[in-house]
Amino acid sequence: MHAVYLLSIILSAAVFGYAVLKKKSRKLQLLKTFSGPKILPIVDVRLKTLTDYHRQYGNRMVITCSPVTLVILSHPDDVEKILSSREHINKPSIYDMLFTPWLGSSMFYAKGQKYFNMRKMILPAMSSKIIERTAFAANQHSRTLVNILKDRELKGISPEIHWLFILISLDITFDFSIGKSMGCLQNLEHEYAVAIHNETMHLFERIFTPWLWPEFLWKISPLGRREKTNRNILHAYIDKIVQNRKKEIAAQNAGSMEETQLKEKGHLNFIDLLIREQQRGQYGITDKYIRDEINASMFAGHETVSSCLTWTIYLLCTNPEAQTKLHLELDEAFGSDKNRDLQFSELSQLKFLDCCIKESLRLYPSGPMYVRAIEKDLELDKDTTIPGGINVIITPWLTHRLPEFFPEPDKFIPDRFSPENYNQKHPFAYIPFSAGPRNCIGQKMAPVMLKIVLAHIFRNFLVELANPEAKVNPVANVVLFPENGLQIRLKLR
Ligand code: HEM
Repeated sequence: MHAVYLLSIILSAAVFGYAVLKKKSRKLQLLKTFSGPKILPIVDVRLKTLTDYHRQYGNRMVITCSPVTLVILSHPDDVEKILSSREHINKPSIYDMLFTPWLGSSMFYAKGQKYFNMRKMILPAMSSKIIERTAFAANQHSRTLVNILKDRELKGISPEIHWLFILISLDITFDFSIGKSMGCLQNLEHEYAVAIHNETMHLFERIFTPWLWPEFLWKISPLGRREKTNRNILHAYIDKIVQNRKKEIAAQNAGSMEETQLKEKGHLNFIDLLIREQQRGQYGITDKYIRDEINASMFAGHETVSSCLTWTIYLLCTNPEAQTKLHLELDEAFGSDKNRDLQFSELSQLKFLDCCIKESLRLYPSGPMYVRAIEKDLELDKDTTIPGGINVIITPWLTHRLPEFFPEPDKFIPDRFSPENYNQKHPFAYIPFSAGPRNCIGQKMAPVMLKIVLAHIFRNFLVELANPEAKVNPVANVVLFPENGLQIRLKLR
């Protein structure tokens, strides 16, 4: 009898082993149509390496660092196949490992139908009413920033602008998500700002230390322990905000929001929308989920906006003729008034500023790459199929530099986005906010935040680099930022 058991175990193992090998060899067979470097000792997707590989291997690349295999696609036709699909929307499992302890089950990396349900629930928080309110807050915070910069200018100090942009982006994103300011700009060492910055640094470090990927090793490692302490700060901070807001609502409305508020979804900011859905018993929302979703929006909103602000300043410093043109546009719109609010309705008049921001996001996309888990085979054309079980990187960093879509791709030419010039040759050639069913939900709000902050700065200052000779090296952490920050010099206008 034992012999029969043994035989059946051996046979099952053989069948299983054969199936695994067959699947693997099929995968390898399909991947042969992609070119790439020999198997690498470490996964190297630094921007410079990607650019070099792209030069060598073209728009469809494969990078293998056993057991990780990544396909990298750059041509808009291929990008479209992935991003426009409602099937291939899932982010890879490494996102679960990295983000679940911090961001719980937030929409940011939710999967399948659950993702679509969450997105539908959250989208009303991005209504034009809310964007208008956020614009009002952006004006207030921009004035605070201008005052800080004036003070630095007076004292002859060259400010490091990237950190100040992180703080103002947090301030505006707080206003968007919880409807009030938390005073990040007023305190350079703000508890939440420091903690969210450290969190992304810790998680980024984990990506490149694969021996810390198993949860139990991460938990006992010094880095993992530091991350936990830091994460607790972020959780406690937002938990308190959620509890306070719930108490305020309970006090105002004897336990529930007023009927009119309930009806007018588009008027509720993010936190109130989530509390309202919780009160209605929808989606099984818990307090923890509300906290996680707010932390996720703080993360997604502030990192990207601060990155874009920094690169736009950098590009306008290194292209003084464009800065002069922007000064002219602002002077024409506001005359000598350097302080008044930019009205939401005025923003569309600032056409050159709009072009500068778009061109900055082309050259330095805040999210230089994003990943999709391809779970089932995906045919790119009749000869090329991505096998299921592969992670695909979409990289605006490369796509935005394809000369057939953007002539002289390395040059900062804002006017290429002017309505007269812009000839959108392909809807998936310009993808700073991703595209398709899983695009950025903040893509209407972001330009409003960016324009208001930049207009306040350039109405008041002529901006230069503090060290024009120093090399500014872009680093793709979770978002793209200058490796050593960006020190600027200001002259009052
Ligand atoms: C310059 C500004 C911004 C840029 C360049 C940007 C870019 C992106 C990109 C490329 C993605 C897709 C990421 C992926 O698929 O892995 C994304 C997703 C997202 N963005 Fe933005 N974003 C910006 C501002 C904002 C703002 C202001 C908010 C909200 C306050 C926001 C909220 C989100 C959220 C929640 C997601 C996840 C969407 C999903 O998975 O469905 N973003 N963003």
